[in-house]
Amino acid sequence: MPKTNTTIIGLQWGDEGKGKIVDSLAAESDYVVRYCGGANAGHTVTVGKEKFALHLIPSGILYEKVVNVIGNGVVFDPEVAIEEIRGLRDRGVKVENTNLLISANAHVVMPWHKQQDKLSETRLGANKIGTTARGIGPCYADKANRSTAIRVGELLDEDALAQKIRIIGSIKNSMFKSMYGSNGMDVEKIVEQYLEHGRYLAPMIRYTGSLLREAAESEKAVLFEGAQGSMLDIDHGTFPFVTSSSVTAAGVPAGTGVAPKHVGRVIGIMKAYTTRVGAGPFPSELDNEIGEYIRKAGNEYGTTTGRPRRCGWLDVAVVRYAASLSGIDMLSVMLLDVLTGLDELKICTGYRTAEGTFEAYNPAIPEEVECLYETLPGWKENITGCKNFSELPENAQNYVRRIEQLTGYPAGIVSVGPGREETLKIDIPPGN
Ligand code: GDP
Ligand code: IMO
Ligand code: MG
Repeated sequence: MPKTNTTIIGLQWGDEGKGKIVDSLAAESDYVVRYCGGANAGHTVTVGKEKFALHLIPSGILYEKVVNVIGNGVVFDPEVAIEEIRGLRDRGVKVENTNLLISANAHVVMPWHKQQDKLSETRLGANKIGTTARGIGPCYADKANRSTAIRVGELLDEDALAQKIRIIGSIKNSMFKSMYGSNGMDVEKIVEQYLEHGRYLAPMIRYTGSLLREAAESEKAVLFEGAQGSMLDIDHGTFPFVTSSSVTAAGVPAGTGVAPKHVGRVIGIMKAYTTRVGAGPFPSELDNEIGEYIRKAGNEYGTTTGRPRRCGWLDVAVVRYAASLSGIDMLSVMLLDVLTGLDELKICTGYRTAEGTFEAYNPAIPEEVECLYETLPGWKENITGCKNFSELPENAQNYVRRIEQLTGYPAGIVSVGPGREETLKIDIPPGN
């Protein structure tokens, strides 16, 4: 059977469990490719008792034969990447230039990007976005600005790099002083550090576009690893409380260099409930003991920042909207086990505003909306040991089936625990 490409997309506000599914599909993939975001992502892969939190390195890294690629659409922080590479090697994971490639066209996150992220958020006070402080927005802003940007390939030309860092560094120092009254950064130290980073990473830096096009057009299986979630998309998310890149399937071609038709099948990853980190609208948020129950049961604390995640009921209007943005082929319903023990479960199916009721989410819906809920009975049995969908308690099965009905998409995967083996595959009838 010819292999096919696959794209993994988060359908909510991030942390849906993408890392777990990428890891499990990586076993049958030739390439695993990140195309958006940067070290703001935190993808967890659990293997037995071992837990890996990956920020920049694609989640296929645990399989030696998989070529992991950091695509041109990523904003690449060499400090985080080197720390991650070293950490993985210390744990016996192979990370070499045969299984990790970094696009020369990806943009480099510089210390001034992280500094600006923090200064800007502090100045905004109550109006802040609640970013991960990883310099993501400022780096993408410089990408669009062009003259103040540095691409990964430029790390290889030491003289030109040193000169560029000196010029841009002095511009940033003047900017930060006048905008925020902050002390200047030590530009010479940055020159030294980044020349060193370039030397360390040089063997892995490559123009990856043609390599990926060839792979995606051939019999190879390419797995595109989405980061963040669709509601954090720069254009289609809950702007301005979003990240700075195109995180839907539409971001894959631009962020890797493959043609849109090679995105392949699209799997939408969703939690069985909803979480969000940082500020912004969240209609089905539970600021009460049920929200606290979910946070505890799901260990809902950020993988990157450790911040407690905001928790709430499943919002299928959001999932439908996100699924249609990426044209998904199937859903993967994650963390179903977290809902075990609740007497009843609510699903937000639409909204009521002063203008009436709506079933479809759209970004123009005012922040303060009332959710329309449907209530389903919960289950008490521990479901983490279940190996097949049919082993789940009837109410858990009905909950998943109701998600399928309300979203209009089939669930091909249900996850009942963080481990690789805690994954139930459901046969999807042909035609879906
Ligand atoms: P990602 O950013 O989408 O890769 O997701 P994160 O790794 O940030 O957050 C998902 C969290 O849920 C991680 O701690 C996973 O180990 C965990 N996880 C994934 N699937 C399941 C599941 O089915 N059940 C439970 N209990 N935890 C899960
Ligand atoms: P993964 O890939 C959850 C959120 C931040 C903040 C907003 C902007 O692990 O799902 P940024 O630092 O990107 O400028 O922050 O986006 N955010 C995420 N939330 N999971 C993520 O990634 C996120 N990446 C960014 O919390 O609200
Ligand atoms: Mg995450």
